[in-house]
Amino acid sequence: MPGALWHSGRVSMKPLLAAAAGQTPTRRPVWFMRQAGRSLPEYRALRADRGMLESCFDPAMVCEITMQPVRRHDTDGAILFSDIVVPLKAAGIDLDIVAGTGPVIVNPVRSATDVAAVGRLVPEAVGAIGRAVSLLRAELDPTPTALIGFAGAPFTLASYLIEGGPSRHYANTKAMMYGDPPLWHDLMGRLVDITVTFLRVQLDAGAQAVQLFDSWAGMLSRRDYETFVAPHSSRVFAEISDFDVPRIHFGVGTGELLAPMARVGADVVGVDWRVPLDEAQRRIGPGPALQGNLDPTVLFAGDAVIAEHVARVVADADRAVVAGARGHIFNLGHGVLPDTNPDTLTRVVDLVHSA
Ligand code: CP3
Repeated sequence: MPGALWHSGRVSMKPLLAAAAGQTPTRRPVWFMRQAGRSLPEYRALRADRGMLESCFDPAMVCEITMQPVRRHDTDGAILFSDIVVPLKAAGIDLDIVAGTGPVIVNPVRSATDVAAVGRLVPEAVGAIGRAVSLLRAELDPTPTALIGFAGAPFTLASYLIEGGPSRHYANTKAMMYGDPPLWHDLMGRLVDITVTFLRVQLDAGAQAVQLFDSWAGMLSRRDYETFVAPHSSRVFAEISDFDVPRIHFGVGTGELLAPMARVGADVVGVDWRVPLDEAQRRIGPGPALQGNLDPTVLFAGDAVIAEHVARVVADADRAVVAGARGHIFNLGHGVLPDTNPDTLTRVVDLVHSA
């Protein structure tokens, strides 16, 4: 059985799972946030006549789009093709994902009545995502690539629900957080329940790691993060801790939050490009593995510059590991920008694997 080589038992563990667990990987694992999607012509061809949300609920489409970057670049992680608002849609919230804009919520959540209307997610409503995970495991088991499930963290989900869409200042979100803490905590509690259900469906179906995206948590001070967000993200991680899979926690602009984001229960902390990985390790302390952190814009600067930056990230990571980080998973500091040349991503994978 060819898959046996890559089971997490005695033989060889998938490199991403080994790095997350503090074992020595057979090669340095690498994947890219937003690797599945608009930078790939084969993605644009598949999506030409299909809506984003419609695609997310079609298991065969999800499987194919998830596999596209893995086949092309030989990444060590396959990030499930989905979106952070998929579980909200499945819980009955009226929203769409608008090309070029992102999620748009039809009735933004601003009042106590709006919060009370945020319902529960029944697992059956995201059954299609579970079926996609099963299809993917069948494809990926014979390969070195691990399947990564994900969800949006409660704060980032709350920010979309309250603002109604993407935001610059998060003024409405912070107005509820500061102005009506009981209402804020009520909303966050409901989002934790939805997130846990969404992640457990993916884990039950075979997701081998999960990433919690708190993309916009960097808008908060450390004190506000600890008061208004950390207890809820802790509950997400605690309520999936019976699955023995690495839990990755990522946000953008979270240099000041790395330690509390590790403390909520992360096995791996994702770091954006602003803080070098050895410095990130000092801020976090011994324990979690690190993921990151090449600046996505470096991919536009030409081969020589890219090679130099990849080597620097690898060297920073090696120092972090010597100082107590459990391991390193190479990634960008945030998602692949849509205009990125896919061949550049393939070259970065080769560079990381040979570093
Ligand atoms: O390759 C992957 O990473 C897998 C799929 C994935 C998508 N969204 C697909 C997508 C993942 C992991 C996400 C997570 C996500 N969605 C996050 C957290 C990650 C991050 O970038 O911080 C956030 C904040 C969202 C919300 C969202 N959805 C945004 C900001 C956008 C982009 C708007 C735009 O078009 O620039 C979306 C839409 C979206 N999600 C697309 C894809 C492929 C584009 C949809 C399209 O093709 O029109």
